[in-house]
Amino acid sequence: MTRSRKCISEGESSAVLKLQGIEAGYGESMVVRSVNLEVKPGQIVCLMGRNGVGKSTLMKTIMGLIKPRAGTLHYEGRELTHASPERRAHAGIGYVPQGREIFQQLTVEENLLLGLEAAADRRKKLPESLFETFPVLRQMLSRKGGDLSGGQQQQLAIARAMAAGPKLLLLDEPMEGIQPSIVMEIEAIIESIKRDREIAVLLVEQSLEFATSIADHYYVLDRGTIAASGGAEHLSEELVRKHLTV
Ligand SMILES: Nc1ncnc2c1ncn2[C@@H]1O[C@H](COP(=O)(O)OP(=O)(O)O)[C@@H](O)[C@H]1O
Ligand SMILES: [Mg+2]
Repeated sequence: MTRSRKCISEGESSAVLKLQGIEAGYGESMVVRSVNLEVKPGQIVCLMGRNGVGKSTLMKTIMGLIKPRAGTLHYEGRELTHASPERRAHAGIGYVPQGREIFQQLTVEENLLLGLEAAADRRKKLPESLFETFPVLRQMLSRKGGDLSGGQQQQLAIARAMAAGPKLLLLDEPMEGIQPSIVMEIEAIIESIKRDREIAVLLVEQSLEFATSIADHYYVLDRGTIAASGGAEHLSEELVRKHLTV
């Protein structure tokens, strides 16, 4: 399939993802309002904010699972504001929803092969590099997803989203509900993604410590709008007190 490149405009081209004036919600209720956000190639961008402010809603809107009421979304310079989730996946956006949502009854291998369906080049074989990042999954290929530990399921969810070779990975609270010892494994995976700088990551993360250590840039969402943003080195206690503590 050849895709039209006619909507590339100057200025959009340096960002992997660019949101301008995005509004989205459910039924009558508007959850996300006038969100401007940018992810540059190879960057790790952290999206922070209290529970219920709209972080997951924004992630779903980026993946096309919720239709925006207003605003535009550009991915690699192409406007995908109204594209289907499938088209976004084919274009190179990988998504790990909050709560993982792997297929419990399918094997690890079947789960990974489903992720491969998003590959633009229609390849049929799982890339070897996937098992370099997730060695634990190689030994578990024939196990049912539901038989894996929480941490392994999270690794499977991330591996599935990476199977097709995305350029942008959306990770919604990947450390949530995982034992502290396993959190470090997931953090190490995100760190290895950052080292390679081939995939940009938009990460919803509650831990200020991890956000400060890993992120290049941060956004704080408060009641649906971006209340603060900047280089991760500027993430401060004050900001946290103001926008992140309950
Ligand atoms: N499917 C849904 N239908 C209606 N309202 C929803 C739905 N999902 C989330 N919401 C509401 O949208 C708001 C933002 O939720 P969410 O995006 O999940 O926040 P966060 O991820 O920041 O915790 C909340 O008030 C929540 O109750
Ligand atoms: Mg959420």
